[in-house]
Amino acid sequence: MGLGVRHLLGIENLTRKQIELILSTAQEFQAKPNKPDAPPPRSNLLEGKTVVTAFFEASTRTLMSFEIAARRLGADIFHVSTELSSIVKGETLLDTVTNLDAMRIDALIIRHAQSGAPHAVAHTVRAAVINAGDGAHEHPTQALLDALTILDYRKRLDGLKVVLVGDIRHSRVARSNALLLSKFGSLVVLCGPATLISRDLEAVAPQVTTITKLDEALEDADVVIGLRLQKERQKEALIPSVKDYSLEYRLTSERLRRAKPDAIVLHPGPLNRGAEMTSEVADGPQSRILTQVANGVAVRMAVIKLLLEGGNG
Ligand code: NCD
Repeated sequence: MGLGVRHLLGIENLTRKQIELILSTAQEFQAKPNKPDAPPPRSNLLEGKTVVTAFFEASTRTLMSFEIAARRLGADIFHVSTELSSIVKGETLLDTVTNLDAMRIDALIIRHAQSGAPHAVAHTVRAAVINAGDGAHEHPTQALLDALTILDYRKRLDGLKVVLVGDIRHSRVARSNALLLSKFGSLVVLCGPATLISRDLEAVAPQVTTITKLDEALEDADVVIGLRLQKERQKEALIPSVKDYSLEYRLTSERLRRAKPDAIVLHPGPLNRGAEMTSEVADGPQSRILTQVANGVAVRMAVIKLLLEGGNG
């Protein structure tokens, strides 16, 4: 069974069924609990397919896990070095991707600072387009890997209280998570200083709420997701200083005690140790940050497989 869409541009237009298909496919690519040291699954399912990554913003985890995922499925994967590409000579994004498309690539994985850039690209090219993060808009594979990680430890996505804390206003991770989790009936609490919160996400679903007091937000939480201050997207001074921000919003072991005793802690990375959470929390028994990273590969294998095996090429 296929996904029924040509591109993965966001969580917004996916149905629960499509999300469930991606997650169940990803589960087939996860390490088996009884064989954690077994080599990661590989196949030649996508042999002969060509996948290109074009990242116009910095990335470590997302870029590498897409590349590892494509390789483990047997596809050929190439990376456009945006600093060395003709973009620096003034070529437009759409001209660049049209030229890549002319080389008969099968998938184009794109990260761009402009919200909606992958959507414009999808209208232009024949290849399957995967959004690896567009501005403050969406980061669908991050929300999917977060959901997979929550499923690992909670076995369900409904009826949970998930708290996202930090720079909600500029976070594509917060947006995609709010969209995904509310589709499954979880309570999503978005927490941060008033200047970094946007109430428009409350319109997504009745069970999405915003709150400025962290202690209140953490009460009985099942999942706590820390977020990075998106300084590159903050056009004005929105917090007095990182030190002041940390005093109110840093996740500490003491604050975490307000959440359920078995609550799990996630962070999409990159983590600014000490600013968003203490090392004690980031490396502590409730942290599942490295499970997220491992699950990132499984989710991206699932997405690439589902989009390409139907024979888009
Ligand atoms: C996030 C991103 O780029 O949106 N990181 C990631 O993909 N793992 C979050 C961030 O940059 O803070």
